[in-house]
Amino acid sequence: MKKCKIGVLATGGGTNLQAIIDACESGMIPGEVVVVIANKKDAYVLERAKKHNIDSILIDRSKCRNMKEFSDKAALELNNRSVDLVCLAGFLLKLAPSFIAEFGNRILNIHPALLPAFGGEGMYGHHVHEAVLKSGARFSGPTVHFVDEEYDKGAIILQDVVPVMDNDTPESLHKRVLEKEHIIFPKAVKYFCENKLVISGKRVIIKE
Ligand code: GAR
Repeated sequence: MKKCKIGVLATGGGTNLQAIIDACESGMIPGEVVVVIANKKDAYVLERAKKHNIDSILIDRSKCRNMKEFSDKAALELNNRSVDLVCLAGFLLKLAPSFIAEFGNRILNIHPALLPAFGGEGMYGHHVHEAVLKSGARFSGPTVHFVDEEYDKGAIILQDVVPVMDNDTPESLHKRVLEKEHIIFPKAVKYFCENKLVISGKRVIIKE
């Protein structure tokens, strides 16, 4: 099977990037991360990429006029490396519609709650866990989904569930959800690279 070329966009620490790199290196994912693009210069993801000899690129959002300019620059880097799949691994900006159209059905995102609840603009990182705790929900958990033009609304590929405890803080809930993210994101990437994902309306069928 031809190895899938993966490009990762990220903003922060990159533990999800690490989980994907590890799964590629262990052979679980029939693919390789060929480029990591960060939008902030202090993003630790860039260090993680360097440690694995992966091209690491900073496109400083604060130096771009708008998200279209940022997205065009990112698309160029991805296309230069003939990337098959784009993973948003803790990428906290909204890509331009032109980017979504260009890479349609080839972009996966990890979200730290059970979509379609607790999604949408402004719902990232600790904001999500705060909203879950405030809602009184008994369960939370991550979602991996295809990215389409509607924020956090693309077809859902995988989810997992964790309990919400009475004494949870956003940090403790984040930690519990993150452990599951590191399992389901590489799994969804593996299915994509194996050509096992079929989108049927809002539902994703996983071919066996
Ligand atoms: C993860 O919890 C991910 O679900 C979240 O950012 C964190 C990044 O962690 N993404 C969003 O909130 C997107 N809406 P990481 O940098 O350690 O992978």
